Amino acid sequence: MKNNIGIIGLSTMGGNLARNMANKGYNVSLFNRTYQKTADVLAIHDKFELNSEGKLFGYENIQSFVKSLEIPRKIIILIKAGEAVDNLIEELKPLLSENDIIIDSGNSQWQDTMVREMILEGGESYSEFEDEFENKNIYFVGCGISGGAEGALHGPSIMLGGKLEAISIIKPIFEKIAAKDASGLPCVGYFGSNPSGHFVKMVHNGIEYAIMQGIAEIYLILRQMGMDNEEIKAIIDQLNVGNNSSYLLDITSKILISRLEDKFLLNFVEGKAKSKGTGLWAVESALELGVPVPNIYAAVNHRLSSLETSNFPVKKLDNSIPEKNFDLDLDQLKTFLDSIFLTSYVQGLELLVAAQTNNNWGIDVHEVLRVWQGGCIIRSGWLEFFPKLLASSEIYNQELESLLEKSVKLQQYLNLNYSSSNNIVFDSSVSYLKGLLFGINGQNLIQAQRDYFGQHGYNRIDKAGDFTGGWKF
Ligand code: 6PG
Repeated sequence: MKNNIGIIGLSTMGGNLARNMANKGYNVSLFNRTYQKTADVLAIHDKFELNSEGKLFGYENIQSFVKSLEIPRKIIILIKAGEAVDNLIEELKPLLSENDIIIDSGNSQWQDTMVREMILEGGESYSEFEDEFENKNIYFVGCGISGGAEGALHGPSIMLGGKLEAISIIKPIFEKIAAKDASGLPCVGYFGSNPSGHFVKMVHNGIEYAIMQGIAEIYLILRQMGMDNEEIKAIIDQLNVGNNSSYLLDITSKILISRLEDKFLLNFVEGKAKSKGTGLWAVESALELGVPVPNIYAAVNHRLSSLETSNFPVKKLDNSIPEKNFDLDLDQLKTFLDSIFLTSYVQGLELLVAAQTNNNWGIDVHEVLRVWQGGCIIRSGWLEFFPKLLASSEIYNQELESLLEKSVKLQQYLNLNYSSSNNIVFDSSVSYLKGLLFGINGQNLIQAQRDYFGQHGYNRIDKAGDFTGGWKF
């Protein structure tokens, strides 16, 4: 008897995904470069999942792993993005047969996914890759999986892109292991052509960076108000309601009171934030598509600044947090979060719409919002609220205007009372709201300057047509 599906790459995500699949009745083949990891996953599964309906099977070499799979073979790869994926594909290619499916579930760059599909599936329009075609028609699916280790084990959110022939074979499996949306449907979305799954996941991560940074800013404010971690946790719990009720606030609450013996563990964690690329790629794609994503950009930048890589002799002023005599009430803190959550989602959604318009992949924003309702890192009440918000331009604008009014007041208050240089995502969100809503923005002067020095032309508000010149030299 052959196994239903295979997984290569058994770090936490891969291992947990395999256990999830076995628990849902699938027989899963496992392969990892070092066998020890395979053995660990098998042992954990045997120990904790005694009633598992399916089984896990470990293989010491990739050939027997591939042979163990039913046809068409379905192979999930969950390894470090980049060259390692290409090398693995190269290794797999000669072992596979027509119509087998490789599903790249790591955080791969969407452009890489596109090229890999061309190489594996072939296609007339991609003659530059002709030499590499083997006409085997191996399907390549780009698959974003969100939810971290817990999600992988108990139900992730899954974003798929690829050929329908392949998707129709793997989707039922993913639907069985995925989280559920607000109406109880599986959080598995098909977004069309192959790079779309990784593109949607990249945007998810961009939003993730921005919301995480925003929560870090609230945490700093509350610390500066003189609160200890227990007190901050209590406030976070009160804010974790309604639209802002979210996975990221849930885990923040738990992190705040985690202990290292009798001390708060968080207070020992070094303030240097690393990243693996998805935030940067989201900003790159946004800039290329002409979509402003200031929150995501600010969050990526702030992580970079935290690494202290300056080549010049910067000396930190002070590492302690000075207590300031000021106070924010829950309504103000809610405004802070509302602004960050709403504008971060909006920026991400705008990016998705622009990518869809540009590439015609098959990304439906409402389906994205649905798929993000469960399992993923950025799940929150907003994802249920957004469809209502976007359904009417009146409601949408009312929401934006009222948020802007409250946010501007809060920003003024913070600037007066608090050394707010760390509120970079909040400040971006307020600027973003202003940019969205204010008709007068000074950009007429930019156009005039461009035309003055470069004859780049301008349009006028009083009549149609293209104009240039008229300036005093
Ligand atoms: C998820 C996460 C995950 C991501 C980590 C780390 O949706 O489960 O987005 O895929 O790898 O959050 O990302 P960075 O290392 O770039 O912060």
